[in-house]
Amino acid sequence: MDARESGGTGAPRRAAASRPPEPPGSLITTGGTESNQLALLLAREACGGSVRLVCGANAHHSLARAAWLLGLPEPVRVPTPAGTLDPGALDEALTRLPGPLLVAATAGTTDAGLIDPLPEIAARCAAHGARLHIDAAYGGGLLFSDRHRAALTGLDAADTVTLDLHKLGWQPVAAGLLAVKDPRDLTALGQRADYLNADDDTDAGLPDLLGRSLRTTRRPDVLKLAVTLKTLGRTGLGTLVDQVCATAREFAALVDRHPGFDLYARPVISTVLFRPTGATDDTVAAVRRALLTDGRAVLGRARPDARLWLKATLLNPATGPDDLTALLHLVTARHATLVEGHTPR
Ligand SMILES: Cc1ncc(COP(=O)(O)O)c(C=O)c1O
Repeated sequence: MDARESGGTGAPRRAAASRPPEPPGSLITTGGTESNQLALLLAREACGGSVRLVCGANAHHSLARAAWLLGLPEPVRVPTPAGTLDPGALDEALTRLPGPLLVAATAGTTDAGLIDPLPEIAARCAAHGARLHIDAAYGGGLLFSDRHRAALTGLDAADTVTLDLHKLGWQPVAAGLLAVKDPRDLTALGQRADYLNADDDTDAGLPDLLGRSLRTTRRPDVLKLAVTLKTLGRTGLGTLVDQVCATAREFAALVDRHPGFDLYARPVISTVLFRPTGATDDTVAAVRRALLTDGRAVLGRARPDARLWLKATLLNPATGPDDLTALLHLVTARHATLVEGHTPR
């Protein structure tokens, strides 16, 4: 019996042969962090008890923390000087390391919203027999958009995909999902509690969701996602995605034209990194904190290179040109008061 058939550490369910096979599906989670943890757990069980995580330096910290939590070997971090996972450097690591291996790629990096080259990474994983997890917590929402979904080509090669619809899905937290390609991976979560999934109930057609989560009384968590999908549909959500991506491009163009600001790069999704020209890192950090404590603007921060950048992740479809101009004015004004001690008119 391999790990997939053992039903993890829970009480064994009835022999799989007597039931129809589980359909592939998605697990509802509390967010990207829990989805990444579950992905590592399912990989560990599918690989017979241990697996080594290989990911880019650009990967979300929750992946390395999940490896620690699950007692996995120290993850191998491939350097990502250009911000995305280089397939050549990944290939070297996969050649050098003994298996079993789990590669984690990112579609929508936390710092700059970049997308790793998914088809090339998938090809390297296939060549080396490594499992592939894609953390699409942020970028996964592009799937809703006919205009932008091609940016996620290669996503379907993954064994597991993290999605987090409190980002490009307009849900209040918690709204995480873990999509799992091979339903046999889910047998690791198999669990029996007579009051929830008695065999006679399951045989009579009642859904057995206990083995689709590590949690218990959380079935209503999916309600808000279902209501949004029923109300807006994929097309409606796709329109919102198109809107925020267009707004991000507009904001980047505004920054680029402004003599007082540097733009990090054109946005790939809806994240724009910018900073006042000539500012020190300390000033950039102080401007951000001042806007936050003044209650004027909540900006993120990122250090994708040697410098600290302000981060605006455009997610509100109602944001218009006036809001973007006003934001730049706020930053200019706060920068001036911090550096020169006066407020420009
Ligand atoms: C790429 C990525 N993965 C995972 C997460 C974690 O998601 P959550 O905050 O919903 O746990 C984030 C950030 O929120 C993220 O940017």
